[in-house]
Amino acid sequence: MFETKSGVFLIAGLGFFALSFLVMGLVPWTIQAGQKEQTVEQLAGAGMLHEFADLAERFPKQFQQHFPDGVTTKSLGEALAMGKNIYVAEACWHCHTQQIRPVSNEDRRWGPVSFAQEYQNILQRPVLFGTRRVGPDLIREGARRSNDWHVAHFYEPRNVVPTSVMPSYRWFFDEEGYPNKRGLAILTYVQWLGSWLDEYPYYYGEGPTPPVEGAVRDAKAGSKP
Ligand code: HEC
Repeated sequence: MFETKSGVFLIAGLGFFALSFLVMGLVPWTIQAGQKEQTVEQLAGAGMLHEFADLAERFPKQFQQHFPDGVTTKSLGEALAMGKNIYVAEACWHCHTQQIRPVSNEDRRWGPVSFAQEYQNILQRPVLFGTRRVGPDLIREGARRSNDWHVAHFYEPRNVVPTSVMPSYRWFFDEEGYPNKRGLAILTYVQWLGSWLDEYPYYYGEGPTPPVEGAVRDAKAGSKP
């Protein structure tokens, strides 16, 4: 077999296939296998999201109507779960990714490179990596813009970004132009993306307590060498 060149290439090819399967499949699997998948309750319980409370102040009537419990972890969990379902249903993932790769200076553009634990939760089922970037990556979108900006943007993207090809989502709003339940949910979800990172601004000194000892952070801390 080793007398011919093709024999050597065949063995080398199989060898490298086995090596890449080991290095990129089995080794990461053994490292990450013990990670528990987090539930919505755990994610919401990691700490109150500043922007969720801000929505309650900004749109008190609509908030009260759709989240009668007020600014609680239960309401937050409900909004997050619904927001993620809308993100899937509206196919936002056709145009947006949720993964910062360690190449092409992506971390300079969007923020810290993604790590495995971020995807080990129920809001990443199905995993929303996405494949195309017609619009920017969104996994670090939280707190980058104000709620007001997002409201104006979802209502009509071209009002804020004249060259945008993003569709307008009028059905996130009621007849008077205020966000309805879907609107409040997708806003909460978008603002939540990246909120588990240390870099996320927590508006120290005002508003709700930052999620210092949240479940998500514990997972992240566990990932540090
Ligand atoms: C046809 C492709 C397309 C679809 C579908 C789409 N977007 Fe976009 N999105 C874009 C483009 C292009 C931009 C950049 C221009 C702009 O800001 O409008 C953008 C920008 C954004 C931004 C602002 C990012 C920033 O900080 O500048 C957010 C947030 C966003 N999209 C969320 C969503 C959500 C949520 C959905 C689904 C409900 C969605 N998009 C659907 C193309 C799309």
